[in-house]
Amino acid sequence: MDTGLFQRAAHSPSYFELIRGMGDGGRQIADFCIPCNPYFPTPAMFGELAKNLEMVLKFYPSDSATIAGRLARILGLNPSTVAMSNGSTELITWMDHLWFTDSVAVPIPTFGRWTDQPLETGKRVDMYPLLESSDFNLNIDDYIKFIRKRRSRVAVLCNPNNPDGGYLPRREIVRFMDELSDLDLVVIDESFIDFVEVERNPSVASDATIRPNVVVLKSLGKNFGLHGIRFGYLVANPALAGKMARALPKWNLNSLAETVVFMLEEHAGDYAESLRLLARDRYQMGMELARNSDLTVYSSQANFLLVKLAHGTDGMALRDYLLQRHQVFIRECGNKLGMDSRFVRLVVRPDKDVERLVEGLRGFAKTRWENDNAAPALVHSVS
Ligand SMILES: Cc1ncc(COP(=O)(O)O)c(C=O)c1O
Repeated sequence: MDTGLFQRAAHSPSYFELIRGMGDGGRQIADFCIPCNPYFPTPAMFGELAKNLEMVLKFYPSDSATIAGRLARILGLNPSTVAMSNGSTELITWMDHLWFTDSVAVPIPTFGRWTDQPLETGKRVDMYPLLESSDFNLNIDDYIKFIRKRRSRVAVLCNPNNPDGGYLPRREIVRFMDELSDLDLVVIDESFIDFVEVERNPSVASDATIRPNVVVLKSLGKNFGLHGIRFGYLVANPALAGKMARALPKWNLNSLAETVVFMLEEHAGDYAESLRLLARDRYQMGMELARNSDLTVYSSQANFLLVKLAHGTDGMALRDYLLQRHQVFIRECGNKLGMDSRFVRLVVRPDKDVERLVEGLRGFAKTRWENDNAAPALVHSVS
């Protein structure tokens, strides 16, 4: 397989690129790289989609206002406060074009498009480093101080954050929004918020609708386990949401996205169950990984775990080994701003896949030990 695929961009190669490069021999890849809900849609839902595929693919979808209206109803939001897009990355792009005029503050590490998009269009990006010494936790007061000092006009905050899964309670985010009511825009990226377990209603979406300058962004690919469909949305006051909806291209949502959105209400119970299973797996996978004294596992409320490898271990070598020898695909974080190659992000997966991952990690440690003829270093685990 061509590991050069990993050198070409700030993000990981697509699953399609990978499997094309691997031919059809070998076991199926266990994907610990792309953060996707493995329990949703259910096999029955996929069966329903497959049955209707010809009709879905042959006909134009409804306009995005119709689809967004249905989604708003399901979420209990006023339809005038929602704009839907072809993946939330489309909204990041348009937010930059419409509302990022000068400077953007972004904690790093985080999802790469938050820094790369404004940089590509010549904006100043004020990067606020999350520190390993604080387990990458974000201190709201310190971040506000940083924003004031740099005079940033837009502030971004991902809750939970990618790649560490760090989560801030709802009341902290409300305080953040209120302290920054004079900025051009405050963006709260809640793409992973449905995976949060420690708080019952963690989203600030309805708070955004009654504020002048707040946008809440959500990707739907991750929580609904359907990255390929490309759908996401924002929630804001009707003036901001309407401006975005008018800027987006007409028919920007496809018929598959429409079909899924119209299936959601009926399958709300399946979705809730998928989140419960995922939270269970996150706990079990965290415990399993933390048993390995070579690894530091960070606390996460998202559907992935950030893991630090033992001193001297190269994440790229581990990634290539796991893929080539075990068909296990992981996210090495060396190309993320604010991270380096000692960190990997591992998506929460069912225990059978975790067994494969752990077997691969053991194999890698053994190979290293044989090469170095020295015992691996001991590191601690963070709860
Ligand atoms: C925090 C965050 N926001 C947004 C996105 C974009 O998601 P999509 O464009 O697939 O909806 C990602 C993707 O990984 C992400 O991690």
